[in-house]
Amino acid sequence: MNPLAGKHIVLGLSGGIACYKAAELARLLVKAGSSVQVVMTEAAEHFITAATMQALTNRPVATSQWDARESNAMAHINLSREADAIVIAPCSADFIARLAAGRCDELLSLLCVARPIARVPLLLAPAMNREMWAHPATQRNLAQAAQDGATVLGVGCGEQACGETGDGRMLEPSEIIEELEAFFTPKLLAGQKVLITAGPTFEAIDPVRGITNRSSGKMGFAIARAAREAGAEVTLVAGPVHLPTPRGVARIDVQSAQNMLETVDRQAQTATVFIATAAVADWRPAVVAMHKIKKDGSGQAPALSFVENPDILATVAASRRAREGDLYCVGFAAESDHLLEHARLKRERKGVPLLVGNIGPATFGQDDNTLLLVDSQGSHALPRASKRVLGRQLVAELARRLAAARDT
Ligand code: CTP
Repeated sequence: MNPLAGKHIVLGLSGGIACYKAAELARLLVKAGSSVQVVMTEAAEHFITAATMQALTNRPVATSQWDARESNAMAHINLSREADAIVIAPCSADFIARLAAGRCDELLSLLCVARPIARVPLLLAPAMNREMWAHPATQRNLAQAAQDGATVLGVGCGEQACGETGDGRMLEPSEIIEELEAFFTPKLLAGQKVLITAGPTFEAIDPVRGITNRSSGKMGFAIARAAREAGAEVTLVAGPVHLPTPRGVARIDVQSAQNMLETVDRQAQTATVFIATAAVADWRPAVVAMHKIKKDGSGQAPALSFVENPDILATVAASRRAREGDLYCVGFAAESDHLLEHARLKRERKGVPLLVGNIGPATFGQDDNTLLLVDSQGSHALPRASKRVLGRQLVAELARRLAAARDT
């Protein structure tokens, strides 16, 4: 299921301190199932050895167009013809200038120019000092390289090796992997605006206490990532969780069920798909104390009373856009037993075309899960897999259902 599995990636390193991150990138690519052929410029060899990259990729590194081991003496042709993509990471300011000018006087820029441009994509992960990044010549060259067909993955912001802080850092290896996975994913959800809730909610009792639940948000975040990979514009409304935001996803953090409802209500005006994975607290304290509730010495616990929270999914599913078929709603059900029975009833009660059931205590905080898809026709299980894989399967399932709904 990993879009990088079976791909052959030519990983080009140009000169820059971020070369040390290219070692980790090569390792992650191999782990994802890609074969990796490293090509290094002379400048890159000042920062990391070819031996390191060879050991990580299990292939000799190519460094020169005059390499006598290539029987036809055409390393640039051989390397570029077999690639599914050429990824330059780090891509230095000088290398961007070379690409913009179409230079061919060393192997890496030569093979970029020699690649079959319609078949072999070129992706750039720039890395440089912030002044170099901001320089008009760099930006001009980058725009030229992009116009000539390169995909620019962007840069990170933060502390730089030179001691300065700003834009120009190379993306982290895991971020580059995320971008590459998205790049190779078929755009099944192109044109869709997907709104997702994830994580628990936090219902305050007083300024320091509250009630919440054990939802980690992992399933919702995995679906958000998969939907973005599939080309959707994704908004993720997250309760309090400790998870990094998937790249390219707009995240809005909320605390309580009421906050979540207000945010979802606004976003649902333009969304085309709503997926409610959040474990919304069913009740909240009727009154939130202004100050911390103190022990009064009586040994008696304070009496708390609760009121029911609004049902976000049911509210959205009952909206005009959902009823008219402009907003496809998917619910989740976290149950502890009798999954199919509860999921069927819940689907009807919430008024959604698709409900995804899972056993809550078995999945909270875990990296894998099993899912049961329940619709008006019946049910269908997705066997145990990582939440990443299940997120992708769910996105494929959703794309099929959206296409079927469009065709009827
Ligand atoms: N949900 C919601 N707002 C709520 C409660 C639930 O949007 N106030 C959504 C969840 O995000 C999920 C679905 O409704 O998609 C089912 O949530 P679940 O907690 O399993 O069901 P409940 O409605 O709370 O029913 P019960 O507690 O009886 O199992």
